[in-house]
Amino acid sequence: MGDMTFLDPRQRAMLAEMGVRVWAPKPIPEPKPALKPEPGRTPAAPPAPMVEAAPAQPPRVTAQPAQEAPLPVATAARVVPMAKPVASDGRASRPEGVERMDWAQLETAVASCRACGLCAGRTNTVFGVGSQHAQWMVIGEAPGENEDRQGEPFVGQAGKLLDNMLAAIGLSRQADDAADATTNGGKKGVYIANVLKCRPPSNRNPQPEEITQCEPYLRRQVALLRPKIILAMGRFAVQSLLKTNEPIGKLRGRVHEYEGVPVVVTYHPAYLLRALHEKAKAWDDLCLAVSAAEGTPAQEA
Ligand code: URA
Repeated sequence: MGDMTFLDPRQRAMLAEMGVRVWAPKPIPEPKPALKPEPGRTPAAPPAPMVEAAPAQPPRVTAQPAQEAPLPVATAARVVPMAKPVASDGRASRPEGVERMDWAQLETAVASCRACGLCAGRTNTVFGVGSQHAQWMVIGEAPGENEDRQGEPFVGQAGKLLDNMLAAIGLSRQADDAADATTNGGKKGVYIANVLKCRPPSNRNPQPEEITQCEPYLRRQVALLRPKIILAMGRFAVQSLLKTNEPIGKLRGRVHEYEGVPVVVTYHPAYLLRALHEKAKAWDDLCLAVSAAEGTPAQEA
């Protein structure tokens, strides 16, 4: 990631789209009373976004697991784990061997998963999107209505905001880190997934049982990707990854860990659409994640 003290016009446009006004010293024509830096920020810190923002939309969460067949990694790329119904509601136990699956096997297992009740109401499972070679991973809660319909995470209003936030730090879900840089328009890849792979009905909160059933899939995605950094967005994602009941406000500002991967927590984009005053904090969180991904100490905010 480049030096974000100096944003180019494109980054500024992205931040503007994200609803973040960036404070920066004006070009100094001649000695004039200096602009007051934003309270609590050092001049060397990344551009301090000033709050200001937009409309709202509720996040959605849900999940459900699958079933599988034990398979030798790298060979059984086409094993299709079939769910074995064991209950009258059609639920089945989660496939065994999730921890050994490759990407294709895992996606197939998720698609046929019937390990919790969410399978009954889904249109599509929402496995994840982005480069499987990405150094960045974003983890949200669960699919909402749009995601359930399209089978892709974060495709609604909150997804737009997420894309703009990621673009502001040079990332895109369309970029493939295995391809050459020109193909990606100068962006690096990011892989986006949710804790739950199925939509909870009526956008209700995920239930602990659903999270428990679905977590092995996410754990395997993390193991396959081995990202340099995980950005966990929203209370459910954060609390289920970090196994805590602490609120985001108490967990922000430091680097946590999930399965050996550094984790930075931040607010859910759907929340940011409603809570405009939190956008500056989200920008600080992104800057912390950039530092953690680069292995450099975070600048003081
Ligand atoms: N909210 C999430 O947490 N994930 C999605 O995919 C969509 C909305």
